[in-house]
Amino acid sequence: MSTQHITVTVNGEAREADVEPRLLLVHLLRDTFGLTGTHVGCDTSNCGACTVHLDGESAKSCTVLAVQADGRQVKTIEGMADGATLHPLQQGFWDQHGLQCGFCTPGMIMQAAWLLEQNADPSEAEIREGISGNLCRCTGYVNIVKAIQQAAVSLSEAASAPVVAGETTEGQAVSAEPAAAG
Ligand code: FES
Ligand code: FES
Repeated sequence: MSTQHITVTVNGEAREADVEPRLLLVHLLRDTFGLTGTHVGCDTSNCGACTVHLDGESAKSCTVLAVQADGRQVKTIEGMADGATLHPLQQGFWDQHGLQCGFCTPGMIMQAAWLLEQNADPSEAEIREGISGNLCRCTGYVNIVKAIQQAAVSLSEAASAPVVAGETTEGQAVSAEPAAAG
């Protein structure tokens, strides 16, 4: 079986592989690169469990061939946290109990992250529309929406924090958290 050599930057790290032309991106991520946070729920583009970012766009990785990702940037759920600090969406899902079995959660978070990049202050209706391609069979979506709303507030505060903290912070590391005066 012929293979094609590809290089994909995954979560900021260049990864190489020899792949069959029929290999799906989701299987490249999971089986070749060991990034099993991206889930396979259907393989037919219905559930959204496989959602990743491809060159900054939300993409269902079961609908993309691995060879189509050659030379491109992929971000997965493993690339969301900053070390031990959860991404605001991860924190939101934790705080708001936005999951039960958790199977849909990585795809839900990746889709929500893309949504918040397009619209930093979405209404509930816009959130529900934005995640309409991601199916959850457990939660009823109420707490998922709350999680995304919490993250929207956190991201907004984080984005405004450096401007608010325009005064010099000599000798102090700049925190990504909303600044507590003093
Ligand atoms: Fe890709 Fe379900 S596994 S949409
Ligand atoms: Fe179980 Fe969403 S938490 S499918």
